[in-house]
Amino acid sequence: MAYRVYVTRRIPEAGLKMVLEACEAKVWEDEVPPPRDVLMKEIAEVDGLLCLLTDRIDAEVMDAGKKLRVISNYAVGYDNIDIPAATARKLIVGNTPGVLTETTADLAFTLLMASARRIVEGDKYTRAGKWRAWGPTLFLGYDIHHATLGLVGLGRIGSEMAKRAKGFDMKVLYYDAFRREDLEQSLGVQYVDLDTLLRESDFVSLHTPLTEQTRHLIGARELGMMKPTAILINSSRGPVIDQKALYEALRDRKIAHAGLDVFEVEPIAHDDPLLSLDNVTVVPHIASASHATRSKMAVMAATNLLAGLRGELPPNCVNPEAWGK
Ligand code: DGY
Repeated sequence: MAYRVYVTRRIPEAGLKMVLEACEAKVWEDEVPPPRDVLMKEIAEVDGLLCLLTDRIDAEVMDAGKKLRVISNYAVGYDNIDIPAATARKLIVGNTPGVLTETTADLAFTLLMASARRIVEGDKYTRAGKWRAWGPTLFLGYDIHHATLGLVGLGRIGSEMAKRAKGFDMKVLYYDAFRREDLEQSLGVQYVDLDTLLRESDFVSLHTPLTEQTRHLIGARELGMMKPTAILINSSRGPVIDQKALYEALRDRKIAHAGLDVFEVEPIAHDDPLLSLDNVTVVPHIASASHATRSKMAVMAATNLLAGLRGELPPNCVNPEAWGK
């Protein structure tokens, strides 16, 4: 009998095809996530779930899945899933590391450059017909080359940011809960504590997972330590920054600019005060959104799902201790 699975959104064809060929699959076709009651109902009969970072998969949802054996998340981050609850229920959870590393770093660096050189403001100004003449002080921004970049988190994506920064002759500092002495020489990065990083960096870019330790890691105190000319980039998870404190810091020019791919609540409300500021550049959580990468993520998520359904350990499993328990 074919495995029954629920897929909470249409993922790119390469991965979806693998799931549809091997399983009796139901796919939620809407652009927004399935409402919780729909998810609870659909999960009741399935062996596997392929979900997105927009689906909150907690103990209650898991318990609704009477036959559920595997949860495959179409993302590298899995803060949307209660992992201890999954492990306690012998539910294996897969994610998609590696394939999106460089694409995500590309976007983080794009936000850094766009923020430093005021690309979005300049675009709006030009289109609005406000450009009257070349001006010696028109749209002055900040140099990227030879500036200091502070990386909060030196995992896969943080390391790729360091490589990009080296191409711009930047000095790179990093802070991580786990010092990575093995990488310091090859990447040319210097370990410092978080306060030093905040004080000394011209650009601060966040590359940590969202955990209880990193929630609101950057709040009013931390923003207050940054240079008034500093630029903050976030392509990790929104709640790593206290967004109200960030709004106040940007409004009061305590820091110069922020480039954000992620927000405390997504999607951010169109009337959120943060969006009324000129000195913030925003995009809608698209760091991994290249054609090739989203397709690779789909194949990886499908591979994890199918392995779990067959009773195998998925190649990318975040709680292997749940397997064969
Ligand atoms: C992830 O994978 O965690 C990103 O946020 C989306 O690609």
